[in-house]
Amino acid sequence: MSSSTMNAVRLHEYGGPEVLRYETAPKPEPGPGELLVRMRAIGANPPDWYAREGMPGVPDELKPPVTLPLIPGTDVSGVVEDLGSGVEGFAAGDEVFAMLNFPKTLQGAAYAEYVTAPATDFARKPAGVSHDHAAAVAMSGLTAWQYLIDLGHDHPSPFQEAQHTPAPLDTTSTVLVNGAAGGVGHLALQLAKWRGARVIAVASGDHEAFLRDLGADEFIDYTKVAPEEVVRDVDLVLDCVGGPRSRRFLRTIKRGGSLYPVYFGEFDDEENARLGITVTLTQVRSNGAQLAEIGRLLEDGTLRVGIDSTFALKDAQAAHERAARGHLRGKIVLTV
Ligand SMILES: NC(=O)c1ccc[n+]([C@@H]2O[C@H](COP(=O)([O-])OP(=O)(O)OC[C@H]3O[C@@H](n4cnc5c(N)ncnc54)[C@H](OP(=O)(O)O)[C@@H]3O)[C@@H](O)[C@H]2O)c1
Repeated sequence: MSSSTMNAVRLHEYGGPEVLRYETAPKPEPGPGELLVRMRAIGANPPDWYAREGMPGVPDELKPPVTLPLIPGTDVSGVVEDLGSGVEGFAAGDEVFAMLNFPKTLQGAAYAEYVTAPATDFARKPAGVSHDHAAAVAMSGLTAWQYLIDLGHDHPSPFQEAQHTPAPLDTTSTVLVNGAAGGVGHLALQLAKWRGARVIAVASGDHEAFLRDLGADEFIDYTKVAPEEVVRDVDLVLDCVGGPRSRRFLRTIKRGGSLYPVYFGEFDDEENARLGITVTLTQVRSNGAQLAEIGRLLEDGTLRVGIDSTFALKDAQAAHERAARGHLRGKIVLTV
């Protein structure tokens, strides 16, 4: 391989995991304000499979621009190899992690041996945190952070006019996290606990020990009990499954409370207002400064990242097959 090429996973057409090809691709060069990073680990996320499939469930007007061949992926951890002009605060050899270029493009191009992205997307990786854990935390951690702790920007949401503002959480708060064992859910659970809240975790039964170990005060196995039938008067529901069924959680929330679906669903603004419940969603955005805060919480043990499974980058197809089987417990990681 020449110095201008690298190995990467690309897709030349949309489809199932089989369209992911491990092959030679051009090595990127850092533009002004960008870092070139030699990759050590990649965290996999639902937008990776949505990109692979051509985003069939996303309305055309919400689809980011994409050209084929495409290198999917957003979440990275690695070592700075080179810097574009004007970059301050980083040096060659620094260990860094990031969620790249999101939501500007689904071509974060993380499934590769090298990536470039704005330096502002990156944070230094704490020495006590592995590359696997740092890559795994990026999108899920930022999503949980921007929903529950601090939005960190004032860009309008593509999903909703109302601005999302995280409701304050403290020891008087009760939070229900639906989809609690997944990437976003297991980190959101821990952030809510960090803020002192009581947390009800909803997941399939096999995840109970994992979630109690992370601090869940109550656990509901949704395969046996519908949470909306048994939970009442919580302050906040973070629905990490989202979609059309999210509305059922309205009845579990007290007046003045909030429902945050992570994926757009169907809501009636008049019903929300009558119930006195704030329903907002947002779209996660790259933010190196927030990742630095998340990194500190990882290093001091406040946050733990669950690793569902690990694959070599060349086996990205198998990683996507694992994702398609569902029931993830934490994150899928690709190692480079
Ligand atoms: N708004 C944003 O910017 C943003 C950012 C990141 C992700 N997302 C979206 O958030 C969703 C979750 O992402 P993720 O990375 O956390 O996905 P994930 O890691 O695949 O986790 C999904 C979890 O949901 C659980 N689940 C599935 N069906 C369920 C049900 N009916 N009730 C309760 N739990 C159920 C699964 O395990 P069990 O069924 O075994 O419990 C799994 O643990 C995705 O739709 C993703 O696109 C949105």
